[in-house]
Amino acid sequence: MCGIVGYIGKKNCVPIIIEGLKRLEYRGYDSAGVGVIAGDDITVVKRKGKVTELQNAVTEQNVTGNVGIGHTRWATHGEPNEINAHPHYNQDRSLIVIHNGIIENYNSLKTGLKNIGYEFRSDTDTEVFAHLIDSFIRRGYDVSKSVRLALNEIDGTYGLAVMYAKEPDKIVVARQGSPLVMGIGDNENFIASDVSALIAYTKQIVYFEDGEIAEVYADHFVTKTIHDKEIEKIATEVNLTVDEIDKGGYDTFMMKEIMEQPDSCTNSMRGRLVFDEGTAKLGGLTDVVEKLLDCKRFLISACGTSWHAGLVGEYLFEHYLRIPTEVEYASEFRYRNPIIYPDDAVFFISQSGETADSLAALREAKRKGALCLGICNVVGSSIARESHAGVYTHAGPEIGVASTKAFTSQLIVLGLITLLLARRKSMSIAEGKEIVHAYQELPHKIAEILKLNKSIEEIAEQFKNANNFLYLGRGAHFPVALEGALKLKEISYIHAEGYPAAEMKHGPIALVDENMPVVFIAPKDSTYEKIVSNIEEIRARKGKVIAIATENDTEIDRLADHVIKIPNSARMTMPILTAIPLQLLAYHIAVKKGLNVDQPRNLAKSVTVE
Ligand code: AGP
Ligand code: GLU
Repeated sequence: MCGIVGYIGKKNCVPIIIEGLKRLEYRGYDSAGVGVIAGDDITVVKRKGKVTELQNAVTEQNVTGNVGIGHTRWATHGEPNEINAHPHYNQDRSLIVIHNGIIENYNSLKTGLKNIGYEFRSDTDTEVFAHLIDSFIRRGYDVSKSVRLALNEIDGTYGLAVMYAKEPDKIVVARQGSPLVMGIGDNENFIASDVSALIAYTKQIVYFEDGEIAEVYADHFVTKTIHDKEIEKIATEVNLTVDEIDKGGYDTFMMKEIMEQPDSCTNSMRGRLVFDEGTAKLGGLTDVVEKLLDCKRFLISACGTSWHAGLVGEYLFEHYLRIPTEVEYASEFRYRNPIIYPDDAVFFISQSGETADSLAALREAKRKGALCLGICNVVGSSIARESHAGVYTHAGPEIGVASTKAFTSQLIVLGLITLLLARRKSMSIAEGKEIVHAYQELPHKIAEILKLNKSIEEIAEQFKNANNFLYLGRGAHFPVALEGALKLKEISYIHAEGYPAAEMKHGPIALVDENMPVVFIAPKDSTYEKIVSNIEEIRARKGKVIAIATENDTEIDRLADHVIKIPNSARMTMPILTAIPLQLLAYHIAVKKGLNVDQPRNLAKSVTVE
């Protein structure tokens, strides 16, 4: 998510920052900005959209200087527009801040700062930093101490860079949860979110750790912990070339996004789990929770992968909330003259928040008086803006056309909504705590599954020439089967179908012969015995079985040709885990066929036309 670049030295910093931001474009962003110390002032230029637009603007305005910081923003709080783009000024415009991450307690800090007279210009959480730091400067502290004191009041994540016109010899940087590195040059220093922005200039890199804050001067730097303990940092030499580090070192965005899932899932949960009470906290639903609890029916509308997430949502809502739930393709919903009662709520799930059918379905539901909730990844997107309330998935930018990390984050958010409402209904605190615990353990379990990458690649090698695939699952794993099949179709162009495992007998079994790979999603749950029988039925017809099973399951070894074993987890969270091996399987099959997985033929990332 987002990028930070900074320079302090003798050269004109502007082209260095612009080039650096371009190198960070792969991380995804929606707007960009740069701030440069010019005499006693700081000049800031910001643009919505691409870095090239920012480049044109700084060239036109002839912005130059020897100290500067730049940012590409991927909005989490406040729409992607010029005002919300970083840098953000303090009140008298003597200080600027750029930030990557989320301030969880920004609301209470903002209220406190407003009460003492600070005026906010943007809707971002980041602007809190500018005024909070300013409030310490006003008490007489220098800029680095003010930053340090401010950070002690912040809950959340940050890669942060601060410049103060009255102390123009330094940039103050800090890190907690979002990446930040420094590059050491000859009487010049650089900062960035990752080395890709810097290696054109230097290979001497200092990696900051969480809880560290540094003053970066042109010829030296001083690092401390945010609790004021000095620390020695040593630069290491990186042996990378510019080509190697694009896409964060991965060959494709899709692989990068699959591998990012321990982090993207953590981000979807950040600040939302309430351990003591065994529930979830979702700020975006505060105003509508009571209404949701009174609903007699939920509807979910979406397209593609987001629709599959909706089907998992149906299982969660009906099982834990006992609220009847219907899931419908947005493209059908919008033209079907849907029946909507006053006590219905309609959820719209969309990674992009711009899918034309989903947006039209939302407008239709609003017209009919429904309470409309958005579950979107892109902040400030149309669906997010036009919904009455909602929850962001915060998976970070997804660039690969095939949705991966956005899907697992959608499942997390649907689970958290379920948990929040269930705890207000009949779920006990003990069960709530167990579920919160399961969520807490998810990133670690996802990381375990990602370690199976190599063995899944070997399975892919054996099936790359198949012409058809079947994906079978039961309960909440039926939508996961659909999603597995969609991933394969999208990027490998192999025909694949997802079915509820038992339904296979009613038709698709006719397709099964020794050339048909069948992927079973078979975790040890209440339908396990049934799915074992379904596997037997496929084996009897010589189909090739690939099973996704839980790690302690030994019975499945004798049944399946290939078994991918994954950690067990609570029922609510299991579909998040079973989805991941299917992403890897589709990925490797497509790559082995020599296909472009990031931009498969005929598909667009965001389908903004009907
Ligand atoms: C997912 O892999 C697909 N590219 C596609 O089905 C996608 O999920 C669908 O177009 C919906 O997009 P949205 O989530 O941005 O609304
Ligand atoms: N939370 C900040 C914002 O919405 C920073 C987002 C980012 O990391 O780009 O402006």
